[in-house]
Amino acid sequence: MKKEKFPINFYWGGSIAAHQCEGAWNHDGKGPGIMDFATQGSVDTPRSFTSNIDLNKVYPSHTGIDFYHRYEEDIRLFAEMGFTALRISVDWSRIYPNGDDEYPNQAGINYYQNLVDCLIKNNIEPIVTLYHFELPKALVDKYNSWTDRILIDLYLKFAETMFEALKGKVKYWVTFNEMNHIDPQTDASDIFTYMIAGLKYSDMENPKQTLAQIGYNMTLAGVKACALGRTIDQTNQIGCVFGLTPVYPINSDPQTALDALHATDRDYYQIDAMCKGEFPQYKLKEYERFGIKIEQETEDLNAFKEGTLDFIGLNYYSSSVMKPKGDDHDKTLFTGYQNPLLEKSQWGWAIDPIGLRYSVNHTYRKYNLPIMITENGLGEVDMLEEDKTVHDQYRIDYLEKHLKELKKCIIDDGIPVIGYLTWGPIDLVSATTGEMKKRYGFIYVDKNDDGSGNYKRYRKDSFYWYKDIIHTRGEEL
Ligand code: BG6
Repeated sequence: MKKEKFPINFYWGGSIAAHQCEGAWNHDGKGPGIMDFATQGSVDTPRSFTSNIDLNKVYPSHTGIDFYHRYEEDIRLFAEMGFTALRISVDWSRIYPNGDDEYPNQAGINYYQNLVDCLIKNNIEPIVTLYHFELPKALVDKYNSWTDRILIDLYLKFAETMFEALKGKVKYWVTFNEMNHIDPQTDASDIFTYMIAGLKYSDMENPKQTLAQIGYNMTLAGVKACALGRTIDQTNQIGCVFGLTPVYPINSDPQTALDALHATDRDYYQIDAMCKGEFPQYKLKEYERFGIKIEQETEDLNAFKEGTLDFIGLNYYSSSVMKPKGDDHDKTLFTGYQNPLLEKSQWGWAIDPIGLRYSVNHTYRKYNLPIMITENGLGEVDMLEEDKTVHDQYRIDYLEKHLKELKKCIIDDGIPVIGYLTWGPIDLVSATTGEMKKRYGFIYVDKNDDGSGNYKRYRKDSFYWYKDIIHTRGEEL
């Protein structure tokens, strides 16, 4: 029997983020961004966030993998694998170094124009994220970040600059990456609130109120950017990326099942707001119950109506479980409770390929919009052998299992999934731990957490595997 292939125009590729790969943190007029103050951590030691640069500490974003100077070589390697798409992010602090400058920094614009031109020359569709944990630090110091609505206007000015600068070259845009991690009902940790808004959870006087307002303001900025982007170019396809972690009930207790549903739902209130034309009533009711009052304006109503999404970007790594109340045993920092039926990575993330099919189905049924898998991958320790090979069969196994489930979403479930972008197709700095040791790439980068390494790139075994998958359009999966 002839095996099915992925669709012809399916986007195959990967996703990277500026602060995790570019380096050159203070070159060519770039201002300091929030992640430039995030130190290197590890699986057991959370990253810390300093108010100034402390010369005794390591800040991984300062050097990244030096993508800023080496992107041509890296893009050639992506092209060799047959990539048809690469998701990049624009660091706001390269364009407006203080966030509220009157004029943009031309050197920053030139860099992204050249990067996008290089992708196009290599037949790789650029997918551009406007906010991937990259916020000019000055906006946190001056306005207390997204708690102030002025950030919405400043973000829109930045978005407009980029929509204009890359007009005709970029069709797919992402307004925000994973703003969903700061719901007031989530047990937030400093790392998530810091990455998303440059503020530490532990410093917040009234965290529920603060997070609700930040979530609202960012969601509003997202829908406004959507409408703006389509005004500038009607052919733009504008989406938003969410990090989705399905939560399964650990037993058949109805209360636990309801709690699991609510926990899964927390990731969806912003998608509801961006797809259904209004900020969801159930969320406003929830805020009322908790005594949270958010600042809204009448004109916001129209913004939600006009700025609905064209596609949904779905980042998927793992699933989690809901336990009966009071049972806190086995709770992990980033992915909730451990599912006893699943294996986990060395960083404690449960490996659940079926969860990808679950998330894609669940999301599609709610919104009927095209879905792009904007991140998926396995962070592992890789060994560079003496002959400069890397045998990463574990990564191939992980990706293969997830792709098999994704294929079922398309072929068996009939869902319009338009692309599959792996996270970190080239090794880069881990967002949550700041390590290089947690590698995701098909391409090994010779840079280590102790500062050693010469930044040379090497093809791993998974490089050849992905190349073959793309070439055969996943026929053997
Ligand atoms: C996603 C982020 O949540 O997870 C990426 O969008 C991040 O920026 C990725 O790198 C993997 O997380 P980590 O901590 O392993 O780098």
